[in-house]
Amino acid sequence: MTIKKALKNLTPYDPKLIDASIYLDANEVNTTLPFVLNQVVLSSLNRYPDHQGTQLIETLCEQFGYQKETIMIGSGSSELLELIIKTYVSPSDVILSIDPTFVMYQQYATIHQATYISVPETNDILDDLYQAYIAHLPKVIFISNPNNPTGSFIPKDKLITFIKKVSCVVVIDEAYIEYANLKETLIYDINNNPNLFVTRTFSKAWGLAGARLGYIVSQKENIQTLKIAKTPYSVSSVTQALGIEALKMDQEIFKRIEDIKEIRTSTYLSLKEMLQEVFPSYGNFLYVYETRLNLYEALLLKGIKIRGYQNGHYRITIGTNEEMTQLINAIKGLL
Ligand SMILES: Cc1ncc(COP(=O)(O)O)c(C=O)c1O
Repeated sequence: MTIKKALKNLTPYDPKLIDASIYLDANEVNTTLPFVLNQVVLSSLNRYPDHQGTQLIETLCEQFGYQKETIMIGSGSSELLELIIKTYVSPSDVILSIDPTFVMYQQYATIHQATYISVPETNDILDDLYQAYIAHLPKVIFISNPNNPTGSFIPKDKLITFIKKVSCVVVIDEAYIEYANLKETLIYDINNNPNLFVTRTFSKAWGLAGARLGYIVSQKENIQTLKIAKTPYSVSSVTQALGIEALKMDQEIFKRIEDIKEIRTSTYLSLKEMLQEVFPSYGNFLYVYETRLNLYEALLLKGIKIRGYQNGHYRITIGTNEEMTQLINAIKGLL
């Protein structure tokens, strides 16, 4: 059997399942809440789940004032990011994004035989993206805001101006927006921007990475269009019920977000004293630069797993206070 050409040079997404005592590599939250699973859900597992996610979407709408017809749920936001490509991108079309950013934009683009172009991240990233838009006329632009892995953040008013200037699909991936400022979300701006799609996930601040749940918000007509290529029943009934449980615990979750933001500030200040460069971050992670040693390998030997990138860059998830103390002590010992 021959693998299709587009996949020949790809390697699988590899979360490196290596044992460690502290996991600071995947931007999860490192504490869990007492989620309860309703018996009714467990006793109806012989049935397919509600494909539309009606109850979950109603709960989201009640809680955040969204409009029902403008939301679609997915198996993690990853499914919905790929769905955008399945729906709007044909082979050889261009997909535009930023470098570095979430690696799956490029992976999905390549799988679907699109041409992926990325613009190096600078302070003028939207100007640079616009120049690239004029030059390459992409079908889709992906912007992770805050950006994973650098932690940078583009204010809402600038994004809106940009979205109005281009006519292609613009996806604002708000996987980490809770760690920046929820007032900066673009979800409530879909009515005036027909090309805007906003994705959210329960995997990060909401602490449900294991359940696989995300959602996308866009104008009603766009959501109808996305339904054509959607995999049926991709979000299990157990996951939908867990999403509703998490929404009930919003107060605890928002408190935990504030705690993580505080730990982010103290960790940033401590790491800044030790490492060659630490970038300010609006996510639950810090992007750092260090060339005196291989920080990934050295920390792994001490049981701490972070994420390594090329050219001396690393991404460190903000864990608990105790975990950050252990991290800082470990780095002190290494330098
Ligand atoms: C920017 C960004 N978007 C989307 C995702 C995918 O999240 P999920 O599929 O778990 O919702 C991630 C995961 O790391 C991410 O960093």
